[in-house]
Amino acid sequence: MRIILYSGKGGVGKTSISAATGLDLARRGYRTLVMSVDPAHSLSDSFDLEKRLLDHEAGRLVPVSKNLWIQEVDVQEEITRHWDSVYAYVSALLNVSGLEKTLAEELAIFPGMEEVSSLLYVNEYIRDKKFDVMLLDCAPTGESLRFVSIPTTLEWYMSKVFKLERRVARLVRPMLNTITSVPLPQEDYFKNIEDLHQKLSGIDKLLADAKVTTVRLVTNPEKVVLKETQRAFTYFCLYGLTVDAVIVNRIFPEEAGGGYFSAWKETQQRWIESIEEFFAPVPVWRVPYFQDEVLGVERLNKLAKVLFGSRDPAKQYFHEAPYRFRKVNDRYEIRLRLPFVSSRDVDLYKKDEDLIVRLGSFKRHISLPQRMMRCEPLGARVKNGELIIELGGGAYAQAQKGREAPEPTEK
Ligand SMILES: Nc1ncnc2c1ncn2[C@@H]1O[C@H](COP(=O)(O)OP(=O)(O)OP(=O)(O)O)[C@@H](O)[C@H]1O
Ligand SMILES: [Mg+2]
Repeated sequence: MRIILYSGKGGVGKTSISAATGLDLARRGYRTLVMSVDPAHSLSDSFDLEKRLLDHEAGRLVPVSKNLWIQEVDVQEEITRHWDSVYAYVSALLNVSGLEKTLAEELAIFPGMEEVSSLLYVNEYIRDKKFDVMLLDCAPTGESLRFVSIPTTLEWYMSKVFKLERRVARLVRPMLNTITSVPLPQEDYFKNIEDLHQKLSGIDKLLADAKVTTVRLVTNPEKVVLKETQRAFTYFCLYGLTVDAVIVNRIFPEEAGGGYFSAWKETQQRWIESIEEFFAPVPVWRVPYFQDEVLGVERLNKLAKVLFGSRDPAKQYFHEAPYRFRKVNDRYEIRLRLPFVSSRDVDLYKKDEDLIVRLGSFKRHISLPQRMMRCEPLGARVKNGELIIELGGGAYAQAQKGREAPEPTEK
């Protein structure tokens, strides 16, 4: 069982490459699903499928060829399937705050609904062993990072906030109903969230398990695109996912020659040289700029052939644990593979039993193992593309000191 995420900046070629990978895998005999997680779907366009064929299939599994299915998650369908009471509550709340009903309903589709819906499907298909490989064609980078952070966030919400909210709502609902029109969530809202949480259980472990899930970053040999790819690389590491390949798409081939695009070719060449250094030891694969759009099965097959050759796309091409815990003398170390980061960018603090690593606007909760819970973060340094966080001191040091003190002698 394999899950492969295709992520990258807008327009770099994620959908074309996901579709091409799907065709290659199906040809090799893997039961394959290509799922579009991006609300702006273009998967069926990429396969050049007839729209009318798809209209009544919105959001469902659509067979494309032997061993190959696609699915473009439809958020409206999903609301009816999973989100009814959450959606009803949020739109009632927005409506009370003065928004017109239709607008409130529109806004009640909160960010992340598509992503969670996709994860629900992924988990369902895994339980039913429906596919050998699932390829997730993600939305542009920022959104796909939200996608992978959802299970951790939900876990945190369920364990820290949910029970309390539910208890408070139960207690104050009868009283509050008499004095205000602001609705409090009803019991079925909580039941719904609980049910979603249950259906998502286990997905966080699957996403973090490099034997099951890897990310392939699609990029182009241009400065701005590459910068974003590097950032994405760091953040995926931070969320505990393994990037097993970087795909450089749209490289001008030799025969594109000089002329109008000659400066472009030189620029690309420069970046291609650095790409290997940026991402080593993660393998870098190359795809040329084709003469025309990559639409329809024939052209997608051509892309797959250039990209994979005899390589099996289902294999893992790089696997390394995203973080490791180590004890060094009287301290602990957490080592995170976070290339392109300097220790100055990182903010560390502890909240309850979690260590929070903050990098710009992204946050990662690292649940500390039992032995490390009483430690405090002492600092961080960067060495060979690894962020090394030291923990010690605090209650842990006190306990250590106590242990080292000479035993009182009995008189
Ligand atoms: N190597 C290539 N050569 C020529 N055209 C390409 C190549 N790769 C992608 N394209 C074309 O570029 C366009 C955008 O590609 P695609 O939809 O795969 O990108 P995307 O990353 O999924 O975009 P979005 O972020 O909007 O989802 C498509 O028209 C596709 O046919
Ligand atoms: Mg796309």
